[in-house]
Amino acid sequence: MKHIPWTPWLRRAAAATLLALASLPASAATVRAACSGIGQELELCRSAAEAWSRKTGHSVELVAVPSDGSARLAWLQKALAARSDKVDVLQLDVVQIGTLREHLLDLKPYSQGAEKAHFAGMVANGTVNGQLLAMPWFIDAGVLYYRRDLLEKHRQDLPKTWEALKQVAQHIQSAERTAGNAQMWGYVWQGRAYEGLTCDAMEWLSSFGAGTLVDETGKATIGGPLAVQAIATAASWVGTISPPEVLGFGEEEARQAFQSGNAVFMRNWPYAWALAQAADSPIKDKVGIAILPKGSGDAARHAATLGGQQLSVSKYSRNPAVAADLVLHLTSAAVQKERAVKAAYNPTINDLYRDPEVKASNPYLGALMRSFFATVARPSSATGVKYNAVSAAFSTTVHEALGGRIRPEDAVTRLEATLKELQGGGW
Ligand code: GLC
Repeated sequence: MKHIPWTPWLRRAAAATLLALASLPASAATVRAACSGIGQELELCRSAAEAWSRKTGHSVELVAVPSDGSARLAWLQKALAARSDKVDVLQLDVVQIGTLREHLLDLKPYSQGAEKAHFAGMVANGTVNGQLLAMPWFIDAGVLYYRRDLLEKHRQDLPKTWEALKQVAQHIQSAERTAGNAQMWGYVWQGRAYEGLTCDAMEWLSSFGAGTLVDETGKATIGGPLAVQAIATAASWVGTISPPEVLGFGEEEARQAFQSGNAVFMRNWPYAWALAQAADSPIKDKVGIAILPKGSGDAARHAATLGGQQLSVSKYSRNPAVAADLVLHLTSAAVQKERAVKAAYNPTINDLYRDPEVKASNPYLGALMRSFFATVARPSSATGVKYNAVSAAFSTTVHEALGGRIRPEDAVTRLEATLKELQGGGW
């Protein structure tokens, strides 16, 4: 072995290492966590994980994964199929548990009943055959953001139907353009062919009473003139009240357009609230949140897609107990409260909705709660491992209709046939 000169620098470094080692638990582990990066997610995940590291002496490495939910799922599927130990803790969308269930660890032996404080529906979503495969982290519902100042300035009422939204959006868009803002658009949303468009389009269908593709009993429900009307309504926005680029928008692109001050309305998840209210936001104190509009006809209703994220541990983790401990820390009341107050991620713990600081952080909690009561679930439980194929077929077909490449009636006919084919002998 080569002789290493024992320099004062090395002596200091060695002493520091020994000190660090002294504060570590007997067997310190490194846990690799794959968190999503929409809005402030990554930053929040990092700071909460670092707090856990300081407390436990274990370290956390954040694995870089795509922030687009569909791309993240593909990444995780590949890693898990290879039984890779490159990721221990996984952030999963509520619709992904079924698809990945064979790779997820049962958290029951570690949770000591912690799940009992969370919304029962979220816990049920993460439970498969009695095994707790995911702990709830935050709950989402689609909401309508609007520019309070612009509605007031142009004396327009908050729209309760899609028809009214189009009129108000059109009116304010033209008036603002005439007044000099050539960039102004009426409505931005998620139009790229991915899971986000599935969420938006599910809201359109439900708001006209056209179901949610597949019902809880496994029956395909899309069809008929209501679905055609819903898709045609959204297609009529592209290039009129929505920029043509909306067909490439995810959550963040829509938020950037809205937050720059160039849109009257936006469909997004609650997280966009905290960013719209940030000190450097051009629309700070100019924004309101409301329930999404209804369709038209007898079956019309308000509909908000139920979303949210959960945390799981991979079965191939080399440190399952340590990884489970990190999951329990990240999903704890203290961390959920901090995420709610700082960044508008909605807790899955019932009691936190009575917390004064959580209530004060979002003056639109009432509109949000109305949206939670109007939620529609995507058919991930009914379609199980086939959900991803169902959702991909839905979003790509709707995307073609939005782009005018097929007629809305042909999109519905094609979707009916695809659903039948995918269902085959059963879900
Ligand atoms: C949000 C929701 C999730 C949804 C996704 C779509 O992350 O929590 O449920 O699937 O957006 O992009």
